[in-house]
Amino acid sequence: MMLEAGPPRSSLGGELWLPGDKSISHRALIMASLASGQSQIDGLLDSEDVKATAGACRQLGMTSQQAGGSLLVNGVGASGLSAPRAPLDMGNSGTAMRLLAGVLAAQAFNSSLVGDQSLSKRPMRRIVQPLSLMGAHIRTEESDTPPLMIEGNPHLKGIDYVSPVASAQVKSCILLAGLYASGRTRVIEPSSSRDHTEKMLPTFGVSVGPGCSVLGGSQLLAAQVQVPGDISSAAFFLVAAAMIPGSELILRKVGLNQTRDGIVHVLNAMGADLTVENRTSFGEEAVGDLRIRYSGPLNGIDIPVEWIPSLIDELPVVMALAAVSRGVTRVRGAAELRVKESDRIAVMARGLQTLGVTLKEYKDGIDIEGGRINGGDVDGAGDHRCAMSFCILGQMADSPVTVTGAEHIDTSYPGFVHDLQTVGGNIGHNTR
Ligand code: S3P
Repeated sequence: MMLEAGPPRSSLGGELWLPGDKSISHRALIMASLASGQSQIDGLLDSEDVKATAGACRQLGMTSQQAGGSLLVNGVGASGLSAPRAPLDMGNSGTAMRLLAGVLAAQAFNSSLVGDQSLSKRPMRRIVQPLSLMGAHIRTEESDTPPLMIEGNPHLKGIDYVSPVASAQVKSCILLAGLYASGRTRVIEPSSSRDHTEKMLPTFGVSVGPGCSVLGGSQLLAAQVQVPGDISSAAFFLVAAAMIPGSELILRKVGLNQTRDGIVHVLNAMGADLTVENRTSFGEEAVGDLRIRYSGPLNGIDIPVEWIPSLIDELPVVMALAAVSRGVTRVRGAAELRVKESDRIAVMARGLQTLGVTLKEYKDGIDIEGGRINGGDVDGAGDHRCAMSFCILGQMADSPVTVTGAEHIDTSYPGFVHDLQTVGGNIGHNTR
């Protein structure tokens, strides 16, 4: 799919309700499936990635029905999953694959997890290794990539795992396996990754012990979950409004979990006029309305390395913002970007250079010098966040930016083009 973005026609204005948080949606579906009784999920993200998790849960025995805006999930109980008849297709979703692998490793049946071309290249050793320490039997390709062939072992043992990466997918995979293991399972991270799993488990009646641990044999009970708007989707609009003269947007009911709000800190540090209003919470998750007003060109900054985990998925659009800000923006400590849905440092660097941006790529980051943006053809490389970032940057270009490889936008944000048009963005499908 090809999109054509920019040049700007007008300032952006209005308010948006962003689609549900992707990370929270995956977790709500998995926990509701493992719970006994009927759970209710409101505001679930309706996107390809989340559909992959829902589809897998159904293949494992979960049933669900839509009731108004809610999804009612009939959980099977932690020990009620049934053997799938076919491989479970996780599509583009690393979160779906890694979290479900933790659950499936502990079952009394075998299963396999497959993914699309991008997911089939992503590293799985980071989960296979700790799961193996717990006694799991998982085979991958020789390159430690999917498919995952899981020989279920209902007798896993709890471990204390010191993870070499700050990854919520790894942490959550181990904690979910830990629900089935003997004794306590604990995960220690080099720095804190997003904590939605730890926040949601108590909602389903499972207590999370100090130092991020769970006790094997814990039973999940049906619960009600309200999913906040996804701050990772909001980020595209925050950046767009911060870039385009005269803009003002209000983004309603956005998740503001402290392990996810790095984009707010970066925008403030660069000089944006961004305020949080109507703070509240959905369960354990902080929520608020974000109001952003254009406040003149922003200033490049050195992004503190300790902010990176809370900003990891927003870095592509921060790179777009850096390209139109004053001076140089430096990103370091972000080597994880190279193993996302694409190598996001390389894909963004290539596209930005095509549009005339001066930059220097590093193993774990990038330096970007702000300036004028030319029109041109860029490749989103089948990565939803890179494709959307180029569409936002196109809003500041001298002439149209054509974005190829944009078909995977539906993995996280099917309404992106529509929403950007609604607030006044210049974007459309290119049928060239
Ligand atoms: C996610 C964790 C992060 C993030 C991804 C979603 C999650 O990945 O980049 O988009 O929901 O747990 P890592 O665990 O690889 O850091």
